[in-house]
Amino acid sequence: MKRYRIASIPGDGIGVEVIAEGEKVLEALAAKERGFSLELMPFDWSSERYLRTGAYMPDNALEILRKFDAILFGAVGAPNVPDHVSLWGLRLPICQGFDQYANVRPSRVLPGIASPLRNGSEIDWVIVRENTEGEYSGSGGRVHTGLPEEVATEVSVFTRKGIERVHRFAFELAKSRPRKHLTLVTKSNAQRHGMVLWDEVFHEVAKGYPEVRTDRVLVDAVTTRMVLKPSALDTIVASNLHADILSDLAAALSGSLGIAPTANLNPERRFPSMFEPIHGSAFDIAGKGVANPIATFWTAAMMLEHLGEARAAARLMTAIERVTAQQVFTPDLGGSARTADVTAAVVAAL
Ligand code: IPM
Ligand code: MG
Repeated sequence: MKRYRIASIPGDGIGVEVIAEGEKVLEALAAKERGFSLELMPFDWSSERYLRTGAYMPDNALEILRKFDAILFGAVGAPNVPDHVSLWGLRLPICQGFDQYANVRPSRVLPGIASPLRNGSEIDWVIVRENTEGEYSGSGGRVHTGLPEEVATEVSVFTRKGIERVHRFAFELAKSRPRKHLTLVTKSNAQRHGMVLWDEVFHEVAKGYPEVRTDRVLVDAVTTRMVLKPSALDTIVASNLHADILSDLAAALSGSLGIAPTANLNPERRFPSMFEPIHGSAFDIAGKGVANPIATFWTAAMMLEHLGEARAAARLMTAIERVTAQQVFTPDLGGSARTADVTAAVVAAL
């Protein structure tokens, strides 16, 4: 029997609540499937730890995590820590340190869920977000702090290698999907260096994938396409910041940020990949027991898929969809179910 070792990092806010539910569902699923088992190892790396010790994680954090088959991550961010400190203290060092360059963000309107769009049922997208460089490279600085002549630079760093590998990943993914359609999203009219390189490398990589239909849409224009003509999109590849923004729009259009999953993949498997709900720590509802655990369950399905347990992943997705069809909904979806009710319903459906 296969045994997977999963590092579980609930982090902050509702991350703690939804990861606990995710673990319950994974354990129920493993017990049903019988072909594999999961060993979930908890880590208390969080803003609470930062405020207590001055660090989100120990110095050898990556060395510790390296030994795991995957990482299940909740959320990071707290009202009493600046957001850029929490992000750079925990999540980004893992994404960058483990070269998780392909961030995969699927969106679909699950059964029973209402999209704010009339034609929301057409949404079936996967956004591939470059996850290690670009606008999130961390390059830049500030001088003359606090003076009238203060200057800050925020430099996007795009490398041919970084662009090429994410495009290749996106083409492979597009090729595996029924519509075999990949949309390149940039802003290469206004940003004439890095974004133009993105476009050029895309067209070079495209030559190796004649079966994939491609088009190129500027990032501002793609927002209107997402809203007005969802069926015109399938797989989308975009830079770190552009895809960050588009994936929130995609989540809202598919009903709620509370259902949207994501996978931070190191496709070559030199390092563990990390799986997390997109929603963040949501301190406004933390501790109330009403966070939507669906994003974490869907995330867990993506993790199982990555581990090679496709059948278990499909079984979990079917159970999730059965529960959404029954409209066992937390408040973000307009219902009055509590987090634990949704978990119980999914476990029953399994
Ligand atoms: C996401 C989030 C993060 C990001 C935040 C928490 C910094 O919005 O995963 O989309 O921008 O990467
Ligand atoms: Mg985001």
